[in-house]
Amino acid sequence: MRYLPIDNQLFITNRQRLTQLLKPKSLVVLNANDIMPTNADGTMTFRQNNDLFYLSGVDQEETRLVLFPEHPDPKFRELLFLRETSELIEIWEGHKLTKAEAEQVTGIPQKQIYWMNQFETIFIQMVYEADFVYLNTNEHTRAGVAVQTQDARYVDEFRQRYPLHRLERLAPLMHQLRAIKQPQELPLIQTAIDTTETMFRRLLAFIKPGVWEYEIEAEMMHEFLKNRSRGTAYSPIIASGANACVLHYIDNSAQCQDGDVILLDIGAEYANYNADMTRSVPVNGRFSPRQRAVYDAVLRVMKEATQMLRPGNLWDEYHREVGRVMESELIGLGLLDKAEVEKQDPDAPLYKKYFMHGTSHFLGLDVHDVGNKYRKMEPGMVFTVEPGIYIREEKLGIRLENNVLLTESGNIDLMATIPVEADEIESMMNR
Ligand code: GLY
Ligand code: MN
Ligand code: MN
Repeated sequence: MRYLPIDNQLFITNRQRLTQLLKPKSLVVLNANDIMPTNADGTMTFRQNNDLFYLSGVDQEETRLVLFPEHPDPKFRELLFLRETSELIEIWEGHKLTKAEAEQVTGIPQKQIYWMNQFETIFIQMVYEADFVYLNTNEHTRAGVAVQTQDARYVDEFRQRYPLHRLERLAPLMHQLRAIKQPQELPLIQTAIDTTETMFRRLLAFIKPGVWEYEIEAEMMHEFLKNRSRGTAYSPIIASGANACVLHYIDNSAQCQDGDVILLDIGAEYANYNADMTRSVPVNGRFSPRQRAVYDAVLRVMKEATQMLRPGNLWDEYHREVGRVMESELIGLGLLDKAEVEKQDPDAPLYKKYFMHGTSHFLGLDVHDVGNKYRKMEPGMVFTVEPGIYIREEKLGIRLENNVLLTESGNIDLMATIPVEADEIESMMNR
């Protein structure tokens, strides 16, 4: 891996935290993600299953983790199955984890680490001791369903082989655990953020009229790759002028024009953790008065929203409150009419014409990380805060996005050192 080794206490603790949530006599099985095909013999880059990674640290395909914390025989309480390597694999694909290395990574004793082809022989010795079997599914509310994942295939396989076992959903437990970031996770997220900051400072010196959006993407990639990142946390949005009003614009193919604002929604990945930053900067280094007015409105909303991200608050109420702040900013900008707002349908507030997405989401191993929106906010949660105003008729879209860690006493802005004040952005672009 290009990232530095992670303290395996993170994975040991995570397994212990999961154990506390299981029903008595429970068995848990987690699978690695597949290597996804492209065309012919092409494949996409491997991306580990985040739950398997969270509980083991193994960043390799064809891996299975089995937990049975109350098994009478201690050697069956934690098991790891790995892809057995060979000279051929070493030659074509390179090094794969040895059992000794896997012990280092996971904290699981080597004598409990096996090759994958031994799985059934060993598993059958354990499975009949279990009253409950937790299997994993993707329960993100906007999960893509186009492909059958390794986890989904395993649910089918398990049901066929052991039809009378009681299956339990692992996903809600993983969501509960992953929502609260552990001490070893925070430096990993911060590394992704720091790399994102370095990249953004480089872009401020690079952006000018005439550069192409994809040239900016190339600058970005250079900075990410040389900092031990695999690249971007998500498809970067590099959207100048009217493109900024297309929320998921990822073509990044236009030439930046004098007088436009460019929206940059870019975050680095590091060790499977993510940063998620947005900045909007003037292509020529100076905001017009109108651009500046919209910019400052978005920034005020971001600051107010950040204040509201604190333990005890509820997701829906927070979003409603941010909506009210945005409403008054849009009235101030002359985009909404106060009298119209007063008689609006509360279920279809008028501000959504200009601010049509949510203000915050959980952030972690997934960019839109798992977590339950009905759970009160708690210390250890990491959220984005990302208000925006998109005015298609003015070919202007401005969004600002920072990442915030909730603490006992409020929150810490993990992006506090990344320039965001309009004056600072302008002065850095005009050096
Ligand atoms: N970059 C994705 C998002 O902001 O949610
Ligand atoms: Mn973003
Ligand atoms: Mn975001």
